[in-house]
Amino acid sequence: MTSSRLKSSRVAVLLLGGVSVVVILMYLHLASEVAQLHTSMLPGAAMSYQQQITQVGGAGGALDLNNLVVIYNRVPKTGSTSFIGLAYDLCARNKFNVIHLNTTKNTPTLSLTDQYMEIFSQMRFVYNISNWIEKKPGIYHGHLAYLDFNRFGVSRQPIYINMIRKPLDRLVSYYYFVRYGDDLRPNHIRRRMGDKMTLDECVAMEHSDCSTTHLWIQVPFFCGHHAECWVPGSNWALEQAKHNLIHKYLLVGVTEEMGDFVAMLEYTLPRIFKGAYDLYLSGVKSHLRKTVKKVLPSPSTIAKLQNTKVWRLENEFYNFALDHFHFLRKKTLVEAELGGHLVDRGQKFAYEKIKPKRI
Ligand SMILES: *[C@@H]1O[C@H](CO)[C@@H](O)[C@H](O)[C@H]1NC(C)=O
Ligand SMILES: *[C@@H]1O[C@H](CO)[C@@H](O)[C@H](O)[C@H]1NC(C)=O
Repeated sequence: MTSSRLKSSRVAVLLLGGVSVVVILMYLHLASEVAQLHTSMLPGAAMSYQQQITQVGGAGGALDLNNLVVIYNRVPKTGSTSFIGLAYDLCARNKFNVIHLNTTKNTPTLSLTDQYMEIFSQMRFVYNISNWIEKKPGIYHGHLAYLDFNRFGVSRQPIYINMIRKPLDRLVSYYYFVRYGDDLRPNHIRRRMGDKMTLDECVAMEHSDCSTTHLWIQVPFFCGHHAECWVPGSNWALEQAKHNLIHKYLLVGVTEEMGDFVAMLEYTLPRIFKGAYDLYLSGVKSHLRKTVKKVLPSPSTIAKLQNTKVWRLENEFYNFALDHFHFLRKKTLVEAELGGHLVDRGQKFAYEKIKPKRI
């Protein structure tokens, strides 16, 4: 009897020992997992800023820079080809995708309605770029009016950027571009090729090619896909465009100050635009495209165009964007001592008093 009791207690001791070994092993394994998690969440000081921000991508639901989708809904004749050329030059080096969205139907140049997509195309576009994982991170560019992804039930909005230009300069550039083309594609047939009418003559005879609807461009691009956006001279459209510019766009630059815009983008979105500012300064792409012939309008033509409600609202929008851009620029960039090269003011915040120390 005693020997059998001894035997069973021995078995119990052995069992207990076995179980504790397993428990200890499991604990050690878990502890090392937790330690690993800590190191991956708290990158060491040796890591560069760029490496650190790409690491944020790991955790589900966090801001994931490797899944960025940027939309540049470019306005025609604002220098957009030069700007997007920078992205094409950087995409291999910085490992992101650049995709042109072609909304042109059959016309060789853009017509106003090409910026508008009907709701079926909108839905497909939103669905496609939200789910196209292989093309993330990526920047999409095309002549498309602002599209609100929230309306389609998408939880993660893309990042919108854009660049606008003084409305009359843009009109003059556009007017001659459709007649004479540019040096980028000199043999491309444009819509008004061969037509020698100058803008002065066009305005004098009140021809439809220079009617104020051709000035109503930048407001509807920012206003979006609502019917009212397409009513030239609509005050509501102007307010909506301003609202979107402030609330829906990360950054909107101006053609006249493209270098500052590029610098700010580089400091704000280095995952995509790292190196863009130097590339811009080196000038390889900055004068890529120039309208072949352009006749500056006479003072009376300018006065006549400016004496319209459409111009006043477009101009108000441009100045609104410009003021906002200057405000952001002043807060973000400083000129380095030598040569006026723009540099970032540096991170404005730090964390402290982080408690509890250990969980
Ligand atoms: C866009 O598509 C239209 C129609 O398919 C085509 O004619 C045009 O050349 C395309 N534009 C570009 C820039 O590829
Ligand atoms: C998005 O569209 C492209 C071109 O039509 C297609 O190749 C791709 O598979 C689409 N992606 C998704 C996720 O639908």
